[in-house]
Amino acid sequence: MKLKMLYSFLKTDIDLIEKEMEKAISSESPALRQASLHLLQAGGKRIRPVFVLLGAKFGDYQIERVKNVAVALELIHMASLVHDDVIDNAELRRGQPTVKMEWDNRVAMYTGDYIFARSLEYMTDIPNIEAHRILANTIVEVCVGEIVQIKDKYRYEQNLRDYLRRIKRKTALLIAASCQLGAISANVPADIHRKLYTFGYNVGMAFQITDDILDFTSTEAELGKPAGSDLWQGNVTLPVLFAMKDPALKEKITRVNEDTSKGDMAEIISLLKKSDAIEQSHALSQRYLNRALAVLEELPDNRTRKSLRDIAKYIGKRKF
Ligand code: IPE
Ligand code: IPE
Ligand code: MG
Ligand code: MG
Repeated sequence: MKLKMLYSFLKTDIDLIEKEMEKAISSESPALRQASLHLLQAGGKRIRPVFVLLGAKFGDYQIERVKNVAVALELIHMASLVHDDVIDNAELRRGQPTVKMEWDNRVAMYTGDYIFARSLEYMTDIPNIEAHRILANTIVEVCVGEIVQIKDKYRYEQNLRDYLRRIKRKTALLIAASCQLGAISANVPADIHRKLYTFGYNVGMAFQITDDILDFTSTEAELGKPAGSDLWQGNVTLPVLFAMKDPALKEKITRVNEDTSKGDMAEIISLLKKSDAIEQSHALSQRYLNRALAVLEELPDNRTRKSLRDIAKYIGKRKF
């Protein structure tokens, strides 16, 4: 996996974080423990903890302190995935059955809440009130983003701004917070941790746009989750918005509902891929990445900055 190679120099610390996460979710309740462990052991890119560590590298990096913040951010992400899979009725996550499938929606509700509460426990080590405010606000925004997404389903008259605001909330702010909170935990000065936030926000926007592109262009084997379900579920993502600029394609897209056959879906997806919707989506993702790279130029020139640059570039090209 190429991404893991980009942060291989953090391997010792990432391994520590993995162990700590396992410890974090070992509940006395077998159902909560098994369901949480099931998702944790399925893997994942661990991109948020990596950003926490890299943010901290700009200051007084002490693994024992920053470790807990990294654990907290990955746990929040995991909790949101467990809930997201309920909302999206998803069967697969990280190549494994989702918690909602392996158990049920009720177990998933409390597994998500449980993982989420554990993450707050890990943040208690951080004395800085601002850090807690940033985190609480981020979680509020994720909830709003996910709810808005439900309301926006099959709402084809929505515009680019609706889409961008939604992905900012559901994805980009958590990545921004990862970069910033890592830095805050290492006493990085405000002018620098704010730039890290801006970097994370722009990378996060590109990350979700790429995710939405991959839903059309990638395969279940590559993604570890079903491909092609966004459009079928009425999720109006960026490629869909661009595709609807073609009136004939728009007509087909707006007729999609959950009863649309696999064959009809395959035809629409193929037409969308033949349009310039994917290319235009890549271009917008690239604009966010360019902004992220530009912010990096304002940070101290060191090895960490170089890693952030490599990871940002990777996100523009990622296949899973
Ligand atoms: C999935 O996030 C949800 C999105 C924000 C697109 P990741 O792609 O980081 O998921 P894992 O952690 O690697 O499984
Ligand atoms: C990811 O939402 C954002 C959150 C989990 C909050 P998606 O529904 O777009 O992501 P996948 O495709 O399930 O990973
Ligand atoms: Mg979702
Ligand atoms: Mg989902």
